[in-house]
Amino acid sequence: MCGISCILSLANDASHQHTRDLPNGTHGDAAKPNGKRERLEEELKASLEQIRHRGPDATGTWISDDCRVAQPTNASPLPPRLALGHVRLSINDLSPEGAQPFHSPANTPGIHAIVNGEFYDYDAIRAHLEAVTAYPFTSRSDSEIIIALYEHYGLNFTDWLRGEFACVIYDERKQLLVAVRDRYGIKPLFWTVQEVKDQRGKGTGERRLLVASEMKAFLPLGWEPEWDVRSLKDAGWNHDTRTLFKGVQKIRPGHYMTCQSFGRIEERPYWDASFPDKRTPDLRTLQELIEGVRQRMLDAVRLRLRADVPVGIYLSGGIDSSVIAGMVAHLVKEQNVAVGSAPPSDRVTCFSIAFEEDSGYDESAIANRTAEWLGVKYVKKLMNEEELARRFEDAVWHCEQHNPDLNFVGKFALSEVPAEAGYKVVLTGEGADEIFAGYPLYLPDYLREPDLAWAQHNSLPEAERAQHLQLAEEAAREHYRCIGADAGDGAVSVPRRMLNGISTVSSMTAFQPDVFAPWTDEVHPACDPQMTIASNADGIARGHISKDWHPLHAALYVWSKGHLPNIFLTCLGDRTEMANSIEARTPFLDHILTEYVNNLPPSVKLRWQPAERRFVEKWILREAARPFITQELFERRKHAYAAPTRWPRGGPLYVLMTGLVSRENVEGLGFVSWEKVGGLVEAAFGPEGDARALRLALVVAEWVVLAKRFRVRRAEAGG
Ligand SMILES: *[C@@H]1O[C@H](CO)[C@@H](O)[C@H](O)[C@H]1NC(C)=O
Ligand SMILES: *[C@@H]1O[C@H](CO)[C@@H](O)[C@H](O)[C@H]1NC(C)=O
Repeated sequence: MCGISCILSLANDASHQHTRDLPNGTHGDAAKPNGKRERLEEELKASLEQIRHRGPDATGTWISDDCRVAQPTNASPLPPRLALGHVRLSINDLSPEGAQPFHSPANTPGIHAIVNGEFYDYDAIRAHLEAVTAYPFTSRSDSEIIIALYEHYGLNFTDWLRGEFACVIYDERKQLLVAVRDRYGIKPLFWTVQEVKDQRGKGTGERRLLVASEMKAFLPLGWEPEWDVRSLKDAGWNHDTRTLFKGVQKIRPGHYMTCQSFGRIEERPYWDASFPDKRTPDLRTLQELIEGVRQRMLDAVRLRLRADVPVGIYLSGGIDSSVIAGMVAHLVKEQNVAVGSAPPSDRVTCFSIAFEEDSGYDESAIANRTAEWLGVKYVKKLMNEEELARRFEDAVWHCEQHNPDLNFVGKFALSEVPAEAGYKVVLTGEGADEIFAGYPLYLPDYLREPDLAWAQHNSLPEAERAQHLQLAEEAAREHYRCIGADAGDGAVSVPRRMLNGISTVSSMTAFQPDVFAPWTDEVHPACDPQMTIASNADGIARGHISKDWHPLHAALYVWSKGHLPNIFLTCLGDRTEMANSIEARTPFLDHILTEYVNNLPPSVKLRWQPAERRFVEKWILREAARPFITQELFERRKHAYAAPTRWPRGGPLYVLMTGLVSRENVEGLGFVSWEKVGGLVEAAFGPEGDARALRLALVVAEWVVLAKRFRVRRAEAGG
């Protein structure tokens, strides 16, 4: 829930010694601190307006009292140091007391905070705080615990947070700003340092740190987006802190950023995924492991049903969302748990979209059978080509980055369904594939080494492992060829050597678009997406990957630091959900659950079924979920959620793409070669449509949309 925006004026700039103007400031303001204050408030409100979809229910701002925050002895009036803004989607404590920013009881100088997201289990944390501190809570909002935790535990407050969140805390006495992002990067947090210009575009010498939930919130603050061509070419936007735009960064999942005394900016981790030593046998019984997963899953789901508004569920034909629906139905029936504000007697409601039945992508028949079996309500909305085309540009604007397929538009449309039914909160199955090893591309890495942790029970005879590895590698290469992607030739490169030889790193670069203009090679030599991925893994984690972790676990780690936060939780998550003011909660990414699952032997995640002669992905999840799902789902093989990939010539998408991928638009980007792009749309559409051409055409069309909506300056060799 919610959106945040924050402006902090940085030190060592002339403005705080001799007052200068803020952007668009008029001369003469220096003598009137209130003029500065009002202007800053106006800017902040305009910034919040850009992310109003994240919090349509209320707006709150707080602007520091500069005389106290800055040097109290300085006689000349200073512009305020800090502005905090918040737009609210009311979910817990709907009263005005839940409004943000929050302030400590000692307000001047005090501690101030803005929060986007949810802290689960907050009743227990609050009871604990009430026992050990005298903190005078004023609301029933989960977010309010943040200041009490910070006052009592200092930077250790992050240890207590369970859920998805991004927040900014400002400690006036210490002149310390802290910006925190949740462990998996479910909630976004961007930042940039800006050189402030005056009305005539001249530098004023002032610098500001801007922090916000979405990059578009920087636009009213004078941010002028420029393409980060190197980030595009070496996939930095997808695998490290970079974005598509120069100078704008994301705070990493599980990290916090501090800015001390309006100067030093530093980012540090507070949590990381870890895995067991691959040589140590796991002595637990299989039944114990299955039960362990089941209990933690049920807990993760139960905690996420807590809200002062109704809570729904996203239901597809896949196992992940069905487990959640099944567990919710179980909790309601057997334990009388309330689903959000609804009494247990109300039927649980599930939402989905459906494509035309003959598209081959319609899963709604399975979802319907699951819903019937569980006795839940099932609301679906029909999607077709025209509906996708109509939403394409808005979905791109919300994602703030490109996608090689149309799944993000499908997700954008899906989020309209609960919104239209009056819901603000849904549960979703995102993250299960990352935690339980659901993607087929993990198989070669599973087979790369024996699983010594489970050697006693492993159903795959060690003598057959090498043969299966070879088959799996061939199958993976064939798979990527089919979908028009290039996952390399299988050679072990430097990046793979850095990660104990895993091939997941090669497959992760399969969709890197090769359409760049020739000048970009000269200006940005040696771009290597695989190297970006390998370098993105923390140095300490690379040590574990080389020495201690099984290669399957290495693959899960690397994937969960790139595609998971930067594509799945973004374009198929937060951004397309919040675009429709929907908060989606992800039980599979509950860290108490994931810490348990990470410590399970690889062979219970990917398991060889000798009778059927196949590997079953997410095996232990299926076993843990068995009482809650239909037999059909228990037996169903992996089928990724996807929008259809073949579209006719002359249809709405074809017309849209032809308009966007024009010579003029493409040359306007500056970094894309028309030679490589002209003709792609023709090749992509029709019964013989080329999958690779479609992916590239979509990516280029999305860049064109971003260029237009964000007014991105044309990239040039000199700049
Ligand atoms: C503080 O946090 C660290 C790292 O998260 C943790 O290891 C430590 O136990 C915490 N200390 C206390 C007193 O909570
Ligand atoms: C499932 O589909 C049938 C046939 O279209 C319909 O009558 C029924 O209401 C659906 N069930 C649910 C739970 O939506």
